[in-house]
Amino acid sequence: MTSTPNPMRAALAFQLEAGADEAVAGVARRWYRDPATALAPQPTRALPPAPAVSARALPPIATSDDPATATARALAAAATSVDELKRALQAFDGCALKDTATNLVFADGAFGAPLMLIGEAPGREEDRDGLPFVGAAGKLLDRLLTAIGRDRSNAYISNILFWRPPGNRQPTPGEIAACLPFVERHIELARPRVIVLLGGTAAKSLLGRSDGITRLRGQWLAVQTAGMEHPVPAMATFHPAFLLRQPAQKRAAWRDFLAIRARLDAES
Ligand code: URA
Repeated sequence: MTSTPNPMRAALAFQLEAGADEAVAGVARRWYRDPATALAPQPTRALPPAPAVSARALPPIATSDDPATATARALAAAATSVDELKRALQAFDGCALKDTATNLVFADGAFGAPLMLIGEAPGREEDRDGLPFVGAAGKLLDRLLTAIGRDRSNAYISNILFWRPPGNRQPTPGEIAACLPFVERHIELARPRVIVLLGGTAAKSLLGRSDGITRLRGQWLAVQTAGMEHPVPAMATFHPAFLLRQPAQKRAAWRDFLAIRARLDAES
């Protein structure tokens, strides 16, 4: 029998993993509701407007004379629904990763949810199952989501690349350029209120910034594509696979996820 995930239990488990090893009070306190604690005012605080990031300002990873990228742009722009977008990707032959992958890894979770998370690329388990974030990093991501009261029924998850790079190597600029028009159209169709960019590849590709993830994470930035009326508030944070290798960074990721929850509360 599977039990329903408990957000408080997940938050506690995550904090233990992040290195919290001491109880600071003998009586449990409702930190999120208590007006004396820092988090309580956040949902009602006026949030600074998310800065606009022009799609035109993106670095030139998607060169206009690259035929694969031009085809990707045309196919993605023609898609008027998420099903059409997935079919367009299935028909797209401009990314050589398709030849070595077992499955297209498109998305998981609730299309149209207020929260959309975007990772880097499928790994072995994702390639096998055709779903993003189902391996060890995905389990950690699920725990982080549970700790902020979410799961795949109210969050939407995808990646910058839709096929696994062999041996989980870093995506090349050409592969990112070929997939990016589909990623941008995916966001336009899903219309999330908040975007979380998991790791440096997602952050750099969608924010048009060359800074590393350590600099980019933890701040409210914005994703804007050519087809969006308004920029979408976006926060970059460490990739769960990195957190598995560097558990000491879970503390920073936890802060990011608390800010993400506060923003989602404020945006609802
Ligand atoms: N890492 C990612 O970036 N995406 C996945 O889907 C799985 C692992």
